[in-house]
Amino acid sequence: MWSSLPLFPEQASTVAKDVDSLYIFLIAITVFFSLLIAGLVIFFAIRYRRRSEVELPEPITGSTKLEAVWTIIPFVVVMVIFFWGARIYFTISRSPANAMPIYVVGKQWMWKLQHLEGQREINELHIPVNRAVRLIMSSEDVIHSFYVPAFRVKQDVLPGRYTSIWFQATQPGEYHLFCAEYCGTKHSGMIGKVVVMEPTDYQTWLSGGPRAESMSAMGQNLFQTFSCHNCHRSDGKGRGPALEGIYGKAVKLATGQTVIIDDNYVRESILNPLAKVVGGYAAVMPTFQGQINEDGLSQILAYIKSIGPQAVTQNDTMKRSEPAPTNKKSLKP
Ligand code: CUA
Repeated sequence: MWSSLPLFPEQASTVAKDVDSLYIFLIAITVFFSLLIAGLVIFFAIRYRRRSEVELPEPITGSTKLEAVWTIIPFVVVMVIFFWGARIYFTISRSPANAMPIYVVGKQWMWKLQHLEGQREINELHIPVNRAVRLIMSSEDVIHSFYVPAFRVKQDVLPGRYTSIWFQATQPGEYHLFCAEYCGTKHSGMIGKVVVMEPTDYQTWLSGGPRAESMSAMGQNLFQTFSCHNCHRSDGKGRGPALEGIYGKAVKLATGQTVIIDDNYVRESILNPLAKVVGGYAAVMPTFQGQINEDGLSQILAYIKSIGPQAVTQNDTMKRSEPAPTNKKSLKP
């Protein structure tokens, strides 16, 4: 019903309704208490005004009951906002495991996008309807922000690290894409559109245009070009660890600390290899800072994810390491 108001953009993603409901709830609560308090101030000012010079007010020493009421009611309201908001926040932050990854690079002043199949786009993103899509984003220069109002998602895009968002479009159509972080003179021109298509149309679109090499193939080329394969040998006998099947796994560092191999770990290991050296290996890898651009980093990342027994697509910058599940049944005699 709210989408019929011109104040609101279309609700075109799975989270849009939830975000709007919370927003409306916040507005309703705010309006209700603002009117209640303003009304009571005016009412009491008139009702209890001083009617004669000799009239003296009765002293009030306090009321525990009243204090409890005005403590408990706001507490309950705030807790509702907290848990409701947290639920939506977690939904938006955690991408489903089967989300389709697409790589995004922001630069002054355009959006560059690349699909796993290799297709590149500028300021346009074609996606299939009813399919979770996860964007893995970085910036070549300053902070940008990827914002699709109809999907109710917005995420800063930073230089030097990956951030990600996911969404699932619910209806075909074209939707505005904005940069929502002031990023220089032509910030207002850093706009584009998201084109949501029926799955068959998307496949047609994907196979149209010039024949593109897949991102992992491009990444593999770079892997060879920079001679990464000389040390990261697949038989594990190289000077660096084998990279097959490592993505998404936990690895023990030389410091004894354990880290999950995610997008940002791979990125850091290419640009600043000595920051987190895997245990058992010498700190000998040179940095590739300044030699590989953002597109190249995305391609190498796509390649590393693609090799090995289990290619894991799910791994957020938000993801935390979880404790290993304990099998309680096996503990029973
Ligand atoms: Cu990019 Cu504003």
